[in-house]
Amino acid sequence: MAKILTLPKLSVVMKEGTVINWYFKEGDLIKKGDILYDVEAGKMGGSAESEEEGVLLKILVNVGDKAKCGQAVAIIGEEGEDFTELIPKEEEQEEKEKKRTTVTVIGGGPGGYVAAIRAAQLGAEVTVIEKCHVGGTCLNEGCIPTKALLHSAEVYENAKNGADIGVIAQPVLDFTKVMERKNAVVKRLVDGIHALLKANGVNIIEGEGSFADRTTVKVKTADGERKIISDKYIIATGSVPSTVPIKGIDSPQCIDSTGALSLEKCPESMVVIGGGVIGVEMATAYSSFGTKVTIVEMLPRLLMNMDEDMTAVAVKAIEKNGAEIMTSTKVVSVDDMGEKAVVTVEKDGVQEQIEAEKVLVCIGRIPNTDSLNLEAAGIECERRAIKVNDYMETNVRNIYAIGDCTGGTMLAHVASAQGEKAAENAMGNDSRYDSKTNPSCVYTNPEMASVGYTEEQAKKEGISYTAGVFSLGGNGKSVIMNGDEGFVKIIAHSRSKKVLGMQIVGPRATDMIAEGALALSVNAGIEDIINTIHAHPTVSEAVREAALAADGRAIHG
Ligand code: FAD
Ligand code: NAI
Repeated sequence: MAKILTLPKLSVVMKEGTVINWYFKEGDLIKKGDILYDVEAGKMGGSAESEEEGVLLKILVNVGDKAKCGQAVAIIGEEGEDFTELIPKEEEQEEKEKKRTTVTVIGGGPGGYVAAIRAAQLGAEVTVIEKCHVGGTCLNEGCIPTKALLHSAEVYENAKNGADIGVIAQPVLDFTKVMERKNAVVKRLVDGIHALLKANGVNIIEGEGSFADRTTVKVKTADGERKIISDKYIIATGSVPSTVPIKGIDSPQCIDSTGALSLEKCPESMVVIGGGVIGVEMATAYSSFGTKVTIVEMLPRLLMNMDEDMTAVAVKAIEKNGAEIMTSTKVVSVDDMGEKAVVTVEKDGVQEQIEAEKVLVCIGRIPNTDSLNLEAAGIECERRAIKVNDYMETNVRNIYAIGDCTGGTMLAHVASAQGEKAAENAMGNDSRYDSKTNPSCVYTNPEMASVGYTEEQAKKEGISYTAGVFSLGGNGKSVIMNGDEGFVKIIAHSRSKKVLGMQIVGPRATDMIAEGALALSVNAGIEDIINTIHAHPTVSEAVREAALAADGRAIHG
């Protein structure tokens, strides 16, 4: 009996392809496994084999024509057989296409665009609604631009201090060029995301989305309002900076992180309110550029969530770089004095005034959900954060939420990991988000990175642990790089010796932490790290040495 041959999916990402070469003509006899034709699909492609035997009765997609995966490409059967019934009618084909699951993603940041691509890979017809720029906070005003500034700062710092290693230079900072380069990096990466979305057939609508009901989203665009009805929704609208009711906090000298990433001139002085991740990274960059930075933190130490020993190393470096750190200090007021602001701070009841050209306010971020009209869809929130379970499901069927807007750990890689899970679940899978392997990195100089349990957390939870610490002073590559002040710490269960956590402060810490994350992912023990040969000379050897130290047998420590 005549059968239809369809266009196979030759890779996970393939959605359609162009037939570029038929090896048979109508009337030819085909055997199982014969290569029928070649297909081009973006940069990939391949050859389609026949899974049937018989005479090639009809070619439905000719050389140069496109077909979607699953679309009828040819009919095969017995010679002389009537196959007209099998020729797909255009309407049927359209109907079939219409039945593809529609997924609409609101917000095109690292959560949203990754979810969109994953859903498209799984066969959905995907739309991303983005009110500003794809790439979201991460690419446009977060991770990428800060690290671009920090890279310039590090090169400048190395050039200034090159005499130590026999490189004598008198570097000059061109702040305009620093910003231009940062903008060029951002543009290149944002363009890359556009290209990726296009290659995956994702439709982008520029506008602000808000729910009209559980199945309908209205989009305010430059041309008016559009209505979207979709099978599934993934909300990925990110976060915005928190504000605090301090007198004068709206003075013209006050900026948030986005402002600090787009200054036209390098300020002479800056007060940083909040000694969290943004505060220390900005302080690191601007101190290196020559700004007199003062960090004001209300808690007893900076970066309260990071391992205390590790933070101590970074704090020493920040201070050495010229920044002043005031902890357990609250900001009372900011007064606009024209060219400068005067920030009044208070510690132990004693007030002090600090003059600064710019006042950077970075005291945390809050979920960005105000514009979504979540009530219309009945989506539950806790304060502004959308409530989700480990499957990224909201309380409303077919509506998922991911990333910063859910109010959990606000990191780009968390948003992306959750995006993949939400897309998989929207497409009928059963994917659970597990935060166990989620690293936290701070791009100070030296860098800090942590995954899993810190010593403080293990103590607090009463876990019986052993800590292996290896100082980078014993690591050749770190000494070469003048980065020997840090360490690697491995927290392992005292009896099973399974890795519970890893902290690294030192050069390349943010890259090396992946080994700790992998150890947690595969439930490795310190013996697994010890049994893994690490290249010499690398900073990563220190990870193995810390594992040895956890077993009381470090070689170089
Ligand atoms: P976002 O990236 O915020 O994207 C949300 C998108 O939704 C935005 O593009 C927004 O325009 C859009 N949107 C919002 N509302 C609507 C609407 N109603 N309709 C349509 N579109 C809408 N994380 C790291 O992991 N590493 C870092 O080094 C790092 N550095 C950072 C530095 C700074 C200065 C900041 C501010 C953040 C940093 N982060 C970092 C955090 C990281 O940027 C966020 O965790 C991440 O971007 C969150 O991704 P998301 O997809 O949830 O949201
Ligand atoms: P944060 O939560 O890291 O730190 C805010 C700090 O401000 C805290 O230490 C807090 O105690 C302090 N604070 C709050 N109110 C204050 C006040 N009135 N006066 C003085 N101090 C006050 O938040 P931050 O730095 O704004 O960053 C937001 C988020 O962005 C981070 O939580 C993180 O998720 C993400 N981020 C991640 C980066 C990375 O992964 N490398 C880099 C930058 C940001």
